[in-house]
Amino acid sequence: MELPPIPPFKTKTVEPVYFSSRKERSQRVQKANYNLFNLHSDWVTIDLITDSGTGAMSEQQWAEIMIGDESYAGSESFFKLQRTVEEIMGFKFLAPTHQGRAAENILFSATVKEGHIVPGNAHFDTTKGHIEFRKAIALDCTIQEAFQTEADHPFKGNIDLEKLEQAVIQYGAERVPFIIITVTCNTVGGQPVSLQNIRETKSLAAKYGIAVYMDIARYAENAYFIKLREKEFDDWSILEIVGEMFNGVDVVWMSAKKDGLVNIGGFIALNDQGLFERLCQFTIIYEGYVTYGGMSGRAMGALAVGLREACEFNYLKDRIMQVQYLGEKLKDLDIPIQSPVGGHAIYIDALKFFPQVPQSEYPAQLLAVELYIEAGVRGVEIGTLLADRDPETGKDRLPEMELLRLAIPRRVYSLQHMDYIAVALANIKQRASDYTSGFRIIKQAPILRHFTVELERN
Ligand code: F0G
Repeated sequence: MELPPIPPFKTKTVEPVYFSSRKERSQRVQKANYNLFNLHSDWVTIDLITDSGTGAMSEQQWAEIMIGDESYAGSESFFKLQRTVEEIMGFKFLAPTHQGRAAENILFSATVKEGHIVPGNAHFDTTKGHIEFRKAIALDCTIQEAFQTEADHPFKGNIDLEKLEQAVIQYGAERVPFIIITVTCNTVGGQPVSLQNIRETKSLAAKYGIAVYMDIARYAENAYFIKLREKEFDDWSILEIVGEMFNGVDVVWMSAKKDGLVNIGGFIALNDQGLFERLCQFTIIYEGYVTYGGMSGRAMGALAVGLREACEFNYLKDRIMQVQYLGEKLKDLDIPIQSPVGGHAIYIDALKFFPQVPQSEYPAQLLAVELYIEAGVRGVEIGTLLADRDPETGKDRLPEMELLRLAIPRRVYSLQHMDYIAVALANIKQRASDYTSGFRIIKQAPILRHFTVELERN
């Protein structure tokens, strides 16, 4: 018999899982104004709000925590990280930041101006926020299949090259400072971008003299999908694929809390010395001195190890298998999910789950709240609350998809936890037709409202 797959690690330290009653959860979520960000973590049994900063570090990473060099300037931990980024990714200059959005702030402070158009596959919300905050336009050029949860496509994160070229022609290349490729594409379901699409995007950008930037929060997961799904690369190593993904890219930035396998951190990496020097000015005012940015020495050391561990084939195989295991369970239960399943999360199609609840009443948030009450499982809405309002009209932008994201932390939960989540969703599915209304907003912030929004049941 063939031996079954097992995780390529065992447990050395454990933390508790917290249990509560349905009554406690109903009261707590109401007091939290139906915003799951307001819940205390020990009121949550399985926390799938994000895969960001929630992974478990390895013993090698903890060893780096002990030997981190906390020197203000010229820390050895910085140089360790710089060498790693150069070896794996091919970029000489490195600007550490405290997390991904800080990298966006620094990078866009130097490059994005009012009236600019920044196209790409679907930008993450902080990326879009940083672009719109500078009175520029973030333009979504993702392929149409990405928005049809049942459409089978191996690379739903791909850029629609025709849409992209039309945008460049319509607005004029001089208004486009760069194109962003986000790998994997979180907003449409952690969906990968193919190397062919990356190469074609680079050629199109070169034709118009436009730079290519990459948001590489989940670069290793993207490389794994390329190895599995793109024939040309099936005998390439993950590191070779990563090298090819970044070949010819002008700038990358990373929220290291994902495929960096650390709890906090980020960076910008590039080869253009002139731009790097401009970035350093912003690093110093916003983050810290240039050899630590927003990170401690020990965090930079742990990140240097994490960037390599994330590229280990057996780690990636186990990681992606766990997410797919949950996806398959949900499909068997007829729960509508973005398919094929992406790298870091399951995305449930709330418009299909609750067909009677109007999109204007936030059905994905309704599912998030019901899943918490049912089983203490905390996911996050990726729908109208997150999509926020049109900056010009102030009205809700109804996105093409209304999703509940269940993000799976790296190296944290077991397949038994996945089984528990599936049963909880099956229970809600059984009574789904009883739900006819969702929520209304009682309070919201001017931008990035989903973190603090307050809701009432309709
Ligand atoms: N880019 C992508 C693709 C992301 O997924 C995130 C964060 C960021 C940038 C911003 O990085 O959080 O370190 O400041 N995504 C998290 C999530 C928050 O839950 O998906 P950050």
